[in-house]
Amino acid sequence: MSSKLDVVLGLQWGDEGKGKIVDVLAGRYDAVARFQGGPNAGHSLHFDGQSFVVRSIPSGIFREGSTNVIGSGVVLDPVTFREECGNISKMGIDPKKKIFISKKANLILPTHRLLDAANEAAAGKGKIGSTLKGIGPTYTDKISRNGLRVGDILAPDFQQKFEKLKAKHIQQIKGLNYECDPDQGEAEWMSAIEFLKEFNLIDCEYFVNDWIANKGTMIAEGAQGSMLDIDYGSYPFVTSSSTTIGGVCTGLGVAPSKIGKVFGIFKAYCTRVGSGPFPTELFDETGEKIRQVGHEFGAVTGRPRRCGWLDLVALKYTVMLDGVTDLIMMKSDCLDDFETIKVCTAYKVDGKITDQVPFDIACEIEPVYTEFPGWKTDLSGIRKESDLPKAFTDYVKFMEDYLGVPVSIISLGPDREATIER
Ligand code: IMO
Ligand code: MG
Repeated sequence: MSSKLDVVLGLQWGDEGKGKIVDVLAGRYDAVARFQGGPNAGHSLHFDGQSFVVRSIPSGIFREGSTNVIGSGVVLDPVTFREECGNISKMGIDPKKKIFISKKANLILPTHRLLDAANEAAAGKGKIGSTLKGIGPTYTDKISRNGLRVGDILAPDFQQKFEKLKAKHIQQIKGLNYECDPDQGEAEWMSAIEFLKEFNLIDCEYFVNDWIANKGTMIAEGAQGSMLDIDYGSYPFVTSSSTTIGGVCTGLGVAPSKIGKVFGIFKAYCTRVGSGPFPTELFDETGEKIRQVGHEFGAVTGRPRRCGWLDLVALKYTVMLDGVTDLIMMKSDCLDDFETIKVCTAYKVDGKITDQVPFDIACEIEPVYTEFPGWKTDLSGIRKESDLPKAFTDYVKFMEDYLGVPVSIISLGPDREATIER
């Protein structure tokens, strides 16, 4: 047994390609665990000519024999979860055998979704650009100690607890002058709760610790990215959970000493969906070209993603926050056709150069760029490191030196096979 829990975390603003990498790595682990977030995540997997998007279910689900854990730090929408399970069942996989759900995970109620929409409508210009899946309101209830948890569905007073929380939400929605039907989706939700009862509901902390001590290997799969972390991201334009390394410990009930490798995943450029600061954002045809080549449209919402050059200042910050031991670089092949490739290596704030992310990342930041000649080679078919062009390997070396961590996996396309390990 390894007795350590390895981790994969997104280092940017989400959508780094975590689904693909967890799917690739999952073949080497006996179990995959989600520790935070919920159906705001959209992890895309591609294999055997097919594509799938998983939302609450860990990306290990398609690997034979894998065990998949939905941890305590996750917020679970039973309706989305049942839909996802339906899609997986069509593949001949039995979700009830492979998925174990923490009793301490919080439930997303239909009125949490309505509240999410009501909050966004009331925010006007200060809109977060939320995915409207009810994430923020569910975590708000958790922290204010009003939440409903998966384990509660087995209690005789579940219905009363539900009604009490729903009544509270109706008052909040009224206070925001938001017009909606508060019963919307409730019948479907209640029937999805019955579906949830058929699963193995676990004491996640005992399950995970016993697993890594006695049963096998496990990898924790982060959702969103470190720049969307509730404490260290571009607050308030963040998600409502701990997407950085500490979230693994609280979300699964494991001690820091049990953490093994920390894989930090980033794209060769940056994207962001929703509102909020993005220092290297491009508003020109280069940004548009990245969006088209990289197919940068949301897996959950279909929204076009904002695109920009790689921001090494932000990346060094998240590498530090997460204690990354191995970097995984995604979508380098999307930059194949650029004459010049830029990376931001410093910020100019108030006329001063800094390599640190300022408290208010929404302040006026001028990115300072280092330029590299493009490799102008189709990388997508390359499977051996020795076949990579020098201009590309020089660029990777520069990044490793700047960040102080080796790039151990390079992904050159969406398919499982388009992966080079070093
Ligand atoms: P994956 O796991 C990218 C963004 C939303 C919004 C902000 C808050 O696929 O990388 P929320 O619904 O969480 O309250 O929205 O966070 N966001 C994501 N952006 N990828 C994600 O997940 C995201 N999940 C949330 O766009 O700006
Ligand atoms: Mg996504």
